[in-house]
Amino acid sequence: MKNIVHLISKNCSLIIKVGRVPEILHWGPKIRQIDPDMLLSTERPISQARLDVDVPLSLCPELGSGHFNAPGLEGHRNGNDWAPVFETVERNVSENSATFTLSDAIAQLKLVIDVKLDFESDVVQKRITVTNIGHDEYSLSKLSSTLPVPRHATKLMSFHGRWSREFQTHRQEFSHGGFMQENRRGRTSHENFPGLMLGDDHFSEQSGQVWGFHLGWSGNHQLRADVKSDGRRFVQAGELLFSGESILAAEESYTTPWLYGCYSNSGLNGISDRFHRFVRTNILKFPVNKPRPVHLNTWEGIYFDHKPEYIKEMASEASRMGVERFIIDDGWFIGRDGERTALGDWYLDEKKYPEGLEPVIQHVNDQGMEFGLWVEPEMISKESILYRNHPDWVLELKGYHQPSGRWQYVLDLQNPDCFAYLFERLDSLLSQYNIAYLKWDMNRELVQPGHEGRPAVHGQTQALYRLLDRLLEAHPEVEIESCSSGGGRIDFEILKRTHRFWASDCNDALERQTIQRGMSYFFPPEVMGAHIGPDEAHTTRRCHHINMRGMTALSGHMGVELDPVKVPEEEKLAFAKYIALHKEFRQLLHTGRSFRLNASDKRQHIYGVKGHEELVITVCQLAMPEYALPTPLRISCIDVDATYEVKLVEMPETSFQLMKQRPQWLDKTLTLSGDNLKEIGLTLPILDPESALMVHLKKI
Ligand code: GLA
Repeated sequence: MKNIVHLISKNCSLIIKVGRVPEILHWGPKIRQIDPDMLLSTERPISQARLDVDVPLSLCPELGSGHFNAPGLEGHRNGNDWAPVFETVERNVSENSATFTLSDAIAQLKLVIDVKLDFESDVVQKRITVTNIGHDEYSLSKLSSTLPVPRHATKLMSFHGRWSREFQTHRQEFSHGGFMQENRRGRTSHENFPGLMLGDDHFSEQSGQVWGFHLGWSGNHQLRADVKSDGRRFVQAGELLFSGESILAAEESYTTPWLYGCYSNSGLNGISDRFHRFVRTNILKFPVNKPRPVHLNTWEGIYFDHKPEYIKEMASEASRMGVERFIIDDGWFIGRDGERTALGDWYLDEKKYPEGLEPVIQHVNDQGMEFGLWVEPEMISKESILYRNHPDWVLELKGYHQPSGRWQYVLDLQNPDCFAYLFERLDSLLSQYNIAYLKWDMNRELVQPGHEGRPAVHGQTQALYRLLDRLLEAHPEVEIESCSSGGGRIDFEILKRTHRFWASDCNDALERQTIQRGMSYFFPPEVMGAHIGPDEAHTTRRCHHINMRGMTALSGHMGVELDPVKVPEEEKLAFAKYIALHKEFRQLLHTGRSFRLNASDKRQHIYGVKGHEELVITVCQLAMPEYALPTPLRISCIDVDATYEVKLVEMPETSFQLMKQRPQWLDKTLTLSGDNLKEIGLTLPILDPESALMVHLKKI
């Protein structure tokens, strides 16, 4: 049909009606064929006492055509051209993608809207480019991508957080008004992860219709979900531009970040499964396809106290425990004896390392481990050689006093000299030393981020991407971790040029359970940096048995964050045990389909990963069990026709305080059929609070 564009993927359809402007008619389950009467059957009535025409909820809703909610584009040209109305002038369509070109000859603006539907993962990608086709400058205040959701999307789940408590979820009604999240922190942020779920009334981990959204952008953003007064509803996301941030000269364009969305009819598990598949095939680029090496990161072990001989001892201990990559964190560069100094001076501190870094790296390599190094390239301390030489490289508004953050300031990456300096420093570190991995940190928010007087978050973010891209071009074998005081810069766009996230500075396993669960809706386990910390967590002072710490770190990209020299031998053996377990299952964990199960005990997290032939499931008891006897573990995502060998892999070694007799199967291998496991389930032992067990199921 001429006026219909039908994009299809494995399980989904995206049907777009192209009238004056393109409008999505359906985004959800796959429709086999378009009915000849579809246009008639979807025609809306025009209600009394309102505009006399139907107003489409288009791919870029227009104020000028009577869309009274948030428009997709806002801006003006010297006070004019602020209510454009577009006309579709061209379209290019293939089976999985469509590009629409729209134009407004009066406002002299051109829009190009790209929509793609990834066949394998069902993930929709959308972005818009606006071009100023007039002579005078156009001040763009907003350009956002809009995607509609159907009327039965009546519940909303958003994400909030803070430092050491990222990815917290909040569920609410979505029936009138709307939801709005604005991020002005200059990085993806701990507080405002750019993600959102909308679903039917009862959507859960395992069931229900859900539409998931993520804006791939590491700067400011606006994310909203609106219910129009006529009942139609939509999600809109784009960059939040400060006043004057985007002024387009003649023929200049602005392109939005990609908005990613997917539909699932199997609850949140279907959403994470789709996003993970998309990330694995379209976003992540590992230089070499190899198992993710287990880390030891020195930060919580020694902080700024760097002594090469001692670090070598740490490396030897780490390797004995099974660690495969050893990372020297903050404190290695000239004058960096504490938080307040030296950022920007990316030269080795020869007072701390009189023999150079080479002997340490050599030692690490001799132990069979890769070497990694911490950097925070975007930052500058006032007490640094760099600041003394280039005080004008700070990203700031001249004349104002800008507050420091962690005693530091941000460099203006759009300043070409500053960019060249940073590239030279990083390039020569990577050339001089055998560095396989950079932990790239970013520890403060942007306040008054000005470049030549103009707001510069957009430009700064683009420049950061360029710096990373250039560095990876020069050193394609290096892997990079995106860290930002823990989980402050976690998104798909930064992941195109990094390989792991430091999910949170919080190594408290109990807090981590929630953080990692929230993160797992969007990101697969192989990019989720998760470390076993010391028994007393440095961020919360809460103490956890090694079982809880080991099991929590095991299901991500595992590491250890402490001083292994100081740890008692018994504890070291326990680390070795969990590292070995992680290695045993990491192929499955890092390639399989992650899922979470609904737990009837709300104080439990049940999650796992499913491969073709096997599954692992972790049950974590977060707090005192709700009932004296646990609810049987019913595995909804199991293959019902298969038969499984079921074995306990891990549970706390300490005596169970809440149980005087254990179920016998804990010491046996059971043979159970899929339908039994799905419908009757497996009776679990009683778990003490803050402990976890893991079960392995293998098809026979
Ligand atoms: C940030 C990171 C930590 C550590 C410190 C070093 O807080 O999140 O992991 O690297 O910086 O200063």
